[in-house]
Amino acid sequence: MVGLKIGLDIGTGNVTAAIEGKGIVLSEPAVLALERETGKVLAAGKEALNMTGRCPDAIKLVRPLLSGGISNLENSKLLLRTFIERICKNKIFKPTIAATMPAGLTNLEKRNILACILNAGAGRAVLIEEPLAAALGTGVMLDKPYGTMIVNIGAGTTSVAVVTMGSIAVAKSAKIGGTDMDKKIKTYLKTNRGVAVGKLTAEELKIILGGAEIRDESVVAISKGKDMTDGMPMFFEVTAEEINFAIRECIEEIGKAITEVLEVTPPELVRDITDDGIFLCGGVSGMYGLDKYIGNQTGIKVKTPGRETEIAALGCLRALCEENYLTENGYHFVTLETLGV
Ligand SMILES: Nc1ncnc2c1ncn2[C@@H]1O[C@H](COP(=O)(O)OP(=O)(O)OP(=O)(O)O)[C@@H](O)[C@H]1O
Ligand SMILES: [Mg+2]
Repeated sequence: MVGLKIGLDIGTGNVTAAIEGKGIVLSEPAVLALERETGKVLAAGKEALNMTGRCPDAIKLVRPLLSGGISNLENSKLLLRTFIERICKNKIFKPTIAATMPAGLTNLEKRNILACILNAGAGRAVLIEEPLAAALGTGVMLDKPYGTMIVNIGAGTTSVAVVTMGSIAVAKSAKIGGTDMDKKIKTYLKTNRGVAVGKLTAEELKIILGGAEIRDESVVAISKGKDMTDGMPMFFEVTAEEINFAIRECIEEIGKAITEVLEVTPPELVRDITDDGIFLCGGVSGMYGLDKYIGNQTGIKVKTPGRETEIAALGCLRALCEENYLTENGYHFVTLETLGV
């Protein structure tokens, strides 16, 4: 293979990339700032995210990658192209990219994502289910018949998979993640406290105060929003209990997605999972008490392998670098010619 090998985790919230020999080389919010009239890219990633709620009318912010899929092909291509160019700099040969996709996509959805990656600058591309990529990133053995359960909770999706011999045995993707919690927090504050807050503030409150379990000590944050009665800026105090209450339904949905997969997992694999524990990753896995909550729901201990937002990209890179792994497991590279676009 000529050209760089890139493991690419295309998330709703973040895009993360790893390359051989260097590991993680890019981790950026999946946000694009476009000139409204011309559609010209003005900023991508962190720089664009910082404009949220603060940009003039002439600029529009878009988040083109929804729930790990692709919501707007043209903008997704622009976003991925900006990131691929940053990684490859002036390399002559086009890179080979293994990218994540949610489990259970239709062929048309897969084709759209592949077309987008190829049009954004990849020479060859292949898609891997996100939870399998995360499992590969945690270092699961590829040749041993042994069950490992991975739960990846991102901004838009919770993917649950049981992996054995480097392949998925059972998987499920539920459209629930950190962004849904942010929305619930916004609604709670509006309805119960009469305060309007922006997306970034809601996310910040979730990260600082949010939890799946009750904390021993009471935790309070002072935040800033707009008084809904007179539209004036105001400081307000909010407690961890309130945020927990606001996001409770989301936590329960995540728990349900996990137990549903366990219910249909063959008994021998469940035995392995019980011995080893459930591996939890994705940005939301850092939430207070989530491991304990899932442990209580399933009766199985929960482990967080660390590098929670990086392991899917590292897993994609591993898939590219393990000789014959992809072809032996039924994954095939496509090019613009073979895809016919
Ligand atoms: N400590 C934390 N507690 C709760 N949520 C967190 C924490 N840290 C990050 N998050 C949330 O994790 C989410 C981002 O996670 P991640 O980068 O895994 O998502 P993604 O891969 O972009 O999305 P997806 O896989 O769903 O398409 C955001 O909603 C962010 O607010
Ligand atoms: Mg993700």
